[in-house]
Amino acid sequence: MKTTISQVAKHKDQEVTIGAWLTNKRSSGKIAFLQLRDGTGFIQGVVVKNDVSEETFQLAKSLTQETSIYITGKIVEDTRSPIGYELQVSNIKIIQEAVDYPITPKEHGTEFLMDHRHLWLRSKKQHAVMKIRNEIIRSTYQFFNENDFVKIDPPILTGSSAEGTTELFHTKYFDEEAYLSQSGQLYMEAAAMAFGKVFSFGPTFRAEKSKTRRHLIEFWMIEPEMAFVDHEESLVIQENYVSYIAQSVLKNCKLELEVLERDTTKLENIKAPFPRITYDEAIELLKEKGFDDIEWGEDFGAPHETAIAESFDKPVFITNYPAEIKAFYMKPHPERSDVVLCADLIAPEGYGEIIGGSQRIDDLALMQEKYEEHGLTGPAYEWYLELCKYGSVPHSGFGLGLERTVAWLSGVEHVRETIPFPRLLNRLYP
Ligand code: 4AD
Ligand code: MG
Repeated sequence: MKTTISQVAKHKDQEVTIGAWLTNKRSSGKIAFLQLRDGTGFIQGVVVKNDVSEETFQLAKSLTQETSIYITGKIVEDTRSPIGYELQVSNIKIIQEAVDYPITPKEHGTEFLMDHRHLWLRSKKQHAVMKIRNEIIRSTYQFFNENDFVKIDPPILTGSSAEGTTELFHTKYFDEEAYLSQSGQLYMEAAAMAFGKVFSFGPTFRAEKSKTRRHLIEFWMIEPEMAFVDHEESLVIQENYVSYIAQSVLKNCKLELEVLERDTTKLENIKAPFPRITYDEAIELLKEKGFDDIEWGEDFGAPHETAIAESFDKPVFITNYPAEIKAFYMKPHPERSDVVLCADLIAPEGYGEIIGGSQRIDDLALMQEKYEEHGLTGPAYEWYLELCKYGSVPHSGFGLGLERTVAWLSGVEHVRETIPFPRLLNRLYP
C-alpha cells in the first residue's frame, strides 16, 4: 500500500511503499541505514543484507543524496526514532538518480545556501521552520474565524500609500502611477465599515534599504480591523491572538521545535495578558539601562527594543508614541495631543516589533487637517476621507508581521529563513 511518512503510525507492522528522497546514509558490510524524507516527514529505513536480495542491498549502499525512490518495507515501532517508527526495507526502486547534489551534510556559508534556496528548502531545519509558518497561518485563520471576523482581501496594486511615501515600490498601471501595497490597512478600514470585524493576510512590499535580521523587502502581514473597538479593546484582542498562535505552535509543532532546539519553556509562558508600558516609561527605562542620549520624540531602533524586551519575559506593548513619528491616521490621545493611541508589540529575546497597531482617526475635520499636514492630495485619497463622512465610528486595527513572528516562535536568528523565497536588499534570486 502506498502511504506517506506522516501516516506511518496507521500502518504499524504492515508493508507499505513510500515515494521518498535519500537525505543521508551510513552502511557497513551487513546493514545500511537510509535517512529518508518525503515532504511530510523524515524516517529511517533499515536495509539488512540477509533479509533482501544482493541486488537491493548493493543498490541501497550506492544511493546518492537526493536520489528519488519508491521504497517498500514494513513499518515497525522504534522508541529511538523521533517519530516512533522506522522502515524495515524489502525493496527499492530508483525514480531518478541525483548526481552531485550541491548541499552536502558539511557546513555551507549563508550566501551559498541562499543561492541554493530552491534546494535548501528540503533540509530538515528549513522544513521545520516552514511547518511552523504553516501552523501560524492555520491557527490565525482559526482564531479569527472563531472570533467572528470576515477575511477580506485588499488590493496589491494601489494608487495611494498607507505608511508614508519613502518606502514605496513604484510601478506603472498602464498610464497611471501605481505602487505595490505597503499595507492593506486603509482598505481594511473601508471593509470594517461594511463587515464589522475583518482580517486580511497577504504580501506587502517595502523598498527599505535596511539590511538587518528583521527586514524583508516582501513580507506577509495579517491585518485585522474592527469597527466599534477602541485602542484598549484592540490590545486585548492582540494579546489573545498572539497567545493563541504561540500555544498552537507549541501543541502542534513538537517535532519541529525539537529539530530547531527551541527552548519551549520560553513559549509556554506566552499567555495573555501581556505587560504594557507607555513610550514615556520606555524612555525612562532606556535611560536607566544606560542609553543616555535617547531623547523624547526619537523612534526606537533594534538595540532599544531589545533592551526594553529584556525587562519582560512576555511580549510587551509600548503604547502612546509621539504623534510625529507615527502614521497620519492614528487617533490623538484624548488628554495629550502630542501622543497617539497606538501600540507596538515587542517580542521577547531580541526579535523586535511584531505588531504595529492603533485606534484610527474617525473625525472628518481632524482627518482633513492630517491630509494637509501630510500632503495627501489628489483623487487617490478621496475615497478614504469619505469613510469619515458617512457613519464614522471608533475603530482600531493592527498588523502582525508573519516572518518576524515565525522567527521568534521558531527561534531562528534571521527572517530570511522564515519565508520560502526571501526578497532581500540585493537578492531577487532564486
Ligand atoms: O508597523 P507597520 O509598518 O504597520 C502597518 O503597516 C500598519 N498599517 C498595520 C495596521 O495597523 N494594519 O508594520 C506592521 C508589522 C511590523 O510590526 C512588523 O512585524 C512587520 O509588519 N514589518 C516587517 N516585517 C519584515 N520586514 C519588513 N521590512 C517589515 N516592516 C514591517
Ligand atoms: Mg511599525
